Amino acid sequence: MDLVGLRKDCKMLGINFRHDIEETNSPFSGMLNLAGEILDLTVRPTGGIATLTDAKRTHIMGKLWNSVTKAMAKQRRKMLANEIFERHAGIVQRGAYKGLRLGGDSNVSRGPLGLKILGLYEPPVVAEIAGSAPFDDLINFGAADGYMSIGPLFSGLCKRSICFELTEAGRTSVKANAAQNGVSENVVIRGAADETLMAQLDEIGIDPQNSVILCDIEGAEFTVFSTEVLAALKGAKIIIELHDTIMPEGTALREALIGRLPTGARTRILRADGVDFAGIKDLDEMHDIDRALVMSEARKWFGEWLVIDYEKET
Ligand SMILES: C[S@@+](CC[C@H](N)C(=O)[O-])C[C@H]1O[C@@H](n2cnc3c(N)ncnc32)[C@H](O)[C@@H]1O
Repeated sequence: MDLVGLRKDCKMLGINFRHDIEETNSPFSGMLNLAGEILDLTVRPTGGIATLTDAKRTHIMGKLWNSVTKAMAKQRRKMLANEIFERHAGIVQRGAYKGLRLGGDSNVSRGPLGLKILGLYEPPVVAEIAGSAPFDDLINFGAADGYMSIGPLFSGLCKRSICFELTEAGRTSVKANAAQNGVSENVVIRGAADETLMAQLDEIGIDPQNSVILCDIEGAEFTVFSTEVLAALKGAKIIIELHDTIMPEGTALREALIGRLPTGARTRILRADGVDFAGIKDLDEMHDIDRALVMSEARKWFGEWLVIDYEKET
């Protein structure tokens, strides 16, 4: 079977083979990117025309089909999320951040917007933050659109929101969301949480005893939370989304992080559990498959958060 066959199959799936695969001289290898699903192709030519064995072609088509169906599911999830977002004009409908207005534009996918609007996004984290109130500062590393940092401020759980976000698009979104909820004057927006973190927090002026720190920075938590940073933040409740499951040497990274904690620190793990959506009209009226898509946080692994806290000083 030659490449013409693969091209025909791609055409049938609506994929532009020539444009999506970068052909180099010989052998060619290509990365096919289908809505974020990366398919690695390596094809060895024999003679003038590249040939594929039936087994290789079946393998490639299997991977393609896998990627296409995943991409379609992601697109449908986004479409449903957009519908929920539009139906409620971007206003969170229930839960601890009820009434919060979201602009919808940010650096992160629109996929979770349905859950955010329905107040069902990362429930154990929201419950942990709400259960810590009242406190002074919510310090968020990886603020994205600010849902998790503007939300607690808007709802009166804290007095100030300090948002660290790497991307300009994210910072713009946090700024816009703060403005449209009328809380800008109590929001501090900064760039990356990096080695300058402690200097920045000193400049802002925080009291760890009255702060909750929420961190979701895609694996950088294992470098940002150095011994010095953890010591300086002693007394704060720290909630860290763990990304070790998708990292090489992940177990060792998790153990090392816990090993760096100051004396007196208590730890526990929060896990994403099933969510009770009974009585939520937006979900009640959906097909089972659509409901499952909207309820999905589209994780590659089960969500886990490390919670660090201390006995309160009296
Ligand atoms: C998975 S998103 C967070 C999603 C967020 N929890 C929400 O409610 O939608 C991770 C965010 O962390 C940001 N990020 C990654 N590394 C960072 C760092 N070192 N400092 C600040 N932000 C970082 C990314 O730009 C991205 O916006």
